[in-house]
Amino acid sequence: MSATSSPILVTGGAGFIGANLVRQLLGRGHQVTVLDNLATGKQEYLAGLPVEFIKGDILDVDLVNQVVRGHAGIVHLAAQTGVPGSLADPRRDCEVNVTGTLNLLEAVRATADDRQQTVRLVFASSNAPLGRQTPPATEDKAPLPISPYGASKLAGEAYCLAYHGSWWLGTVVLRFGNVYGPFSAHTESVVAKFCKDILAKGALTVDGDGRQTRDFIYVEDLCRAVLLALESSVSGEVFQIATSVETTILELAESVRRVAGQDAGIEYGPARQADIRENYSAIAKARALLGWEPRVSLADGLRETWRWFATARQ
Ligand SMILES: NC(=O)c1ccc[n+]([C@@H]2O[C@H](COP(=O)([O-])OP(=O)(O)OC[C@H]3O[C@@H](n4cnc5c(N)ncnc54)[C@H](O)[C@@H]3O)[C@@H](O)[C@H]2O)c1
Repeated sequence: MSATSSPILVTGGAGFIGANLVRQLLGRGHQVTVLDNLATGKQEYLAGLPVEFIKGDILDVDLVNQVVRGHAGIVHLAAQTGVPGSLADPRRDCEVNVTGTLNLLEAVRATADDRQQTVRLVFASSNAPLGRQTPPATEDKAPLPISPYGASKLAGEAYCLAYHGSWWLGTVVLRFGNVYGPFSAHTESVVAKFCKDILAKGALTVDGDGRQTRDFIYVEDLCRAVLLALESSVSGEVFQIATSVETTILELAESVRRVAGQDAGIEYGPARQADIRENYSAIAKARALLGWEPRVSLADGLRETWRWFATARQ
């Protein structure tokens, strides 16, 4: 795939990561199509951008077959995106995350047969497939999911790898850390929640004791990794995409208070069900094979995120 001006399809492109990724893709000179059913995403996140927007569902096989045709690369972000949603409706989670992914892979396979060339597909996964494995998350640990979301993302990963193994499709799996940044107001991101908490009530609510840890990655760094994966020739591989820095939720709360410049109080709510206790990733493989490195510090990323919540969002 050419490093610039290729036609790229972004499923879920009207969501948080999609809205940021589409801007980076356009900045690299790519032509962008977005397929999104607006279940959680917002079309206004793409307002004014030169993007072909198709409102539709990845479970619509005919539509997916039609839309995939003509694209050199696909970034598959559309999903049921959280543990709580998967606990509330595991069947729906499976349909969207497993069957939806299979629909895309089948459409790519048909296109590849037609054109005798491989369309690249980057699949958005998470550390949820690793579940109760001890950190750091690495590509070679056996997946032990503890939520239906972890199971459905694991199945999506498996199909991407299997389509590479069976038909040499150019698939790459990226396991995202905990992503934060602009355009995340509608998400379950803890950073977004803290920003909204401060704006709404001048206090933060921490789930559980706040000593659980996460690996927070700024969305701009994450999207650069997606671009590198799309434009590289590496296929049939899984990569951890995070920062390798472990931060407790209480430390995060302090950092958000600092960038917001407000003396917000901290309240404690119940711990979340099926929540991973400690989570951070080793990123040596992405460094070595994709030449990728996170650049944005937590303090700088939070400052940009807070600015978006405090101004652009109003
Ligand atoms: N945000 C994170 O921290 C994080 C971490 C790990 C993995 N991921 C993965 O990254 C991807 C993007 O997540 P996000 O944070 O941008 O979430 P998001 O909810 O903002 O984006 C998901 C998008 O997919 C769309 N969508 C959902 N179901 C669809 C369907 N059936 N057909 C078409 N479109 C559909 C939604 O409308 C939305 O625009 C997801 O696959 C998610 O699982 C995100």
